[in-house]
Amino acid sequence: MAKDLSPVEKAKFVAAKQACAMVQDGMKLGLGTGSTAEWLVRCLGEMVRGEGLRIQAVPTSARTADLAREQGIEVISLEEAGWLDLTIDGADEFDGDLNLIKGGGAALLHEKIVATASDRMVVIADATKQVETLGAFPLPVEVIPFGWQATKVLIEETLVGLDVLGREVALREKDGAPVRTDEGNFVLDLHLKRIGNARQLGLVLNQVPGVVENGLFVDICDAVVIGHGDGRVETR
Ligand code: 5RP
Repeated sequence: MAKDLSPVEKAKFVAAKQACAMVQDGMKLGLGTGSTAEWLVRCLGEMVRGEGLRIQAVPTSARTADLAREQGIEVISLEEAGWLDLTIDGADEFDGDLNLIKGGGAALLHEKIVATASDRMVVIADATKQVETLGAFPLPVEVIPFGWQATKVLIEETLVGLDVLGREVALREKDGAPVRTDEGNFVLDLHLKRIGNARQLGLVLNQVPGVVENGLFVDICDAVVIGHGDGRVETR
């Protein structure tokens, strides 16, 4: 599965593979979204098909659901699961306190709901995702399409006086049209450069009318499995 990979893909693969060792028979799992999470789903699929591992999985996006089914993994809804034993997901950035920026794949809302409905959340990431201070990666914020321009202005005003370095807010677009989340919402990317107080920022952003959720995960992640390009893996 992992032949001829670039160093960064190898790092993602080994992190995902290592996290699979945390999965036990009978578990209800949350499955993340993104290229690292895809490795996880493929590794779990091999365990299901090859070793008879029995798991039920709640995917955090339609594309993860499609891949999981293709891999032979039983997919259930969060309603059917009720609660999850473990969620494993990627991240765009993580800091020394295991706070995260997520949502680069526009799945932050479902990712946060699934992660917080789990006994444990484990992040799998290549080492480039590790940062001293969050914020170099633009912070995704999911907003309702109705009145999104007004929501954007309110967010820009809210950022004044907060401990951030940049204040540019951009609608995420693809092929000239707004990117839609699985809930049909838009994503605003906040180019903050440096987030001094992630907890405060996350709380304040969610007070803005039109904001559905932001991509700051504070006190949600329990461990990060970090993969390196040479195949080494460490867990924090
Ligand atoms: C999707 C996410 C992803 O976990 C994040 O973007 C990392 O993706 P990748 O593993 O492809 O680097 O938050 O919304």
